[in-house]
Amino acid sequence: MFECEPEITAHREVAPGTYLMTLREASIAKQARPGQFVMLRAFSGMDPLLRRPFSICGRIGEDAFGVLYRVVGRGTAVLAKQRTGDRIQVLGPLGNGFQTGPASGSFILAGGGVGVAPLFFLAQTLLGQGDRTPAFLAGFSGKQEVLSPGDVLQLDLEAEIATEDGTLGHAGPVTDLLEPHLAVCAEQGNKTTVCACGPPAMLERVAALARAAGASCQVSLESAMACGLGACLGCTVHAAPQEGIPYLRVCREGPVFPAEAVDWSRAGAGWS
Ligand SMILES: Cc1cc2nc3c(=O)[nH]c(=O)nc-3n(C[C@H](O)[C@H](O)[C@H](O)COP(=O)(O)OP(=O)(O)OC[C@H]3O[C@@H](n4cnc5c(N)ncnc54)[C@H](O)[C@@H]3O)c2cc1C
Ligand code: FES
Repeated sequence: MFECEPEITAHREVAPGTYLMTLREASIAKQARPGQFVMLRAFSGMDPLLRRPFSICGRIGEDAFGVLYRVVGRGTAVLAKQRTGDRIQVLGPLGNGFQTGPASGSFILAGGGVGVAPLFFLAQTLLGQGDRTPAFLAGFSGKQEVLSPGDVLQLDLEAEIATEDGTLGHAGPVTDLLEPHLAVCAEQGNKTTVCACGPPAMLERVAALARAAGASCQVSLESAMACGLGACLGCTVHAAPQEGIPYLRVCREGPVFPAEAVDWSRAGAGWS
């Protein structure tokens, strides 16, 4: 983990209210694993006081990494005002990322909204391992919101898109796209891993579909965070009974968890 003040080398709006920030910091770019996150703070004043957590969305060139973020409040609004050449405070890489294991089986990546961010990094990593091209499924509210791995990170990977308003791709939730993929994998007896990031209701549905199809499933969770280091317990989610502990810290044990580690019946509590 590093605490540093890297330079912003590129910063652009990739969809309305969604930005890709590139930060030059070789130590983080080299050490980071898909699913890990950084805590960012855009300036040294007191408002906003806390750093904000963001997934690393990929390596960019030799010595930089990207953060893909949506403006939702004060911290992200301040972030959006930063210009190329400015420096910001960064802590990371933090947390536990996706387990990609030995080179066998197929991967299905399913993202909702800006939840595609850690999956872009995962796709980039799998593509870099030769024949591990994943299926990439991404759901958005409408065409304007769409973020694709090709457009954002120049990855050579076609995404299957779903939009809730039907303006692009399949009309409906991204989980509609997942079902046929799982059916094919089950039919072929493939060892399949589903990796997902998005709103809690989407993740719960993804976990249920994967379980029903006999696929393993990893989910990347979000929660409001204060320290990002496991100390404040501000980011907990309820653990499933078999975990033997009541709570899981999203920043420390996560943000990526095996789907079965989470108590989905109480998944809303403690989430932002
Ligand atoms: C591990 C992790 C990885 C994350 N990765 C990303 C990422 O790659 N890209 C990204 O855009 N965001 C990501 N987030 C969410 C991001 O941290 C929040 O959107 C951010 O902290 C909001 O800060 P703010 O000051 O702008 O909003 P605040 O002023 O803190 O909140 C403003 C409003 O936004 C709501 N809000 C806060 N967090 C979220 C959220 N996660 N989703 C929807 N509404 C929210 C609040 O409830 C409030 O109503 C991640 C969160 C975690 C825990
Ligand atoms: S944010 Fe402090 S324990 Fe997770």
